Amino acid sequence: MSLICGRPAIWAGMAAGLSFAGVAGCQSVPALNPQQTEGKHLYDVRCAHCHEDNDLALKKVPPDLHGLFDRQTLPSGIPATDIAVRQNVLYGKGLMPGFAGRFTDEQMAALLAYLHTGLR
Ligand code: HEC
Repeated sequence: MSLICGRPAIWAGMAAGLSFAGVAGCQSVPALNPQQTEGKHLYDVRCAHCHEDNDLALKKVPPDLHGLFDRQTLPSGIPATDIAVRQNVLYGKGLMPGFAGRFTDEQMAALLAYLHTGLR
């Protein structure tokens, strides 16, 4: 429970039978929308094992993707744009495999939407 989350807010939520709404209202960041939630699922399944765990022990450690779009450039130095990230995901780079044919346009949009949240 975060510090900004005052008890009155929880009690009010529980009294109204909305304990989840009460707790969610205490978060400092808005909840993910459905598209971002789908993107998070794709990220968790397809990307996190390398980018967070480096489970294949790649010599080039996959870069941290948190806050990817907060910076002007991607780790490789090219401008951080949707197009560049989409190309990177589709065709791969260095030790990263390409995912061409693995994602529908809708799934790719969801993945990008989630990356834009900075990875919550
Ligand atoms: C097999 C491990 C692996 C998987 C799975 C993987 N990546 Fe990567 N990724 C890498 C490595 C290694 C690099 C560094 C590539 C380089 O610069 O040589 C990288 C680089 C990147 C970059 C930075 C590109 C740049 O230009 O700096 C982005 C963005 C990225 N990955 C996104 C993703 C996303 C999104 C997914 C899931 C769809 C994903 N990656 C899945 C290993 C992986």
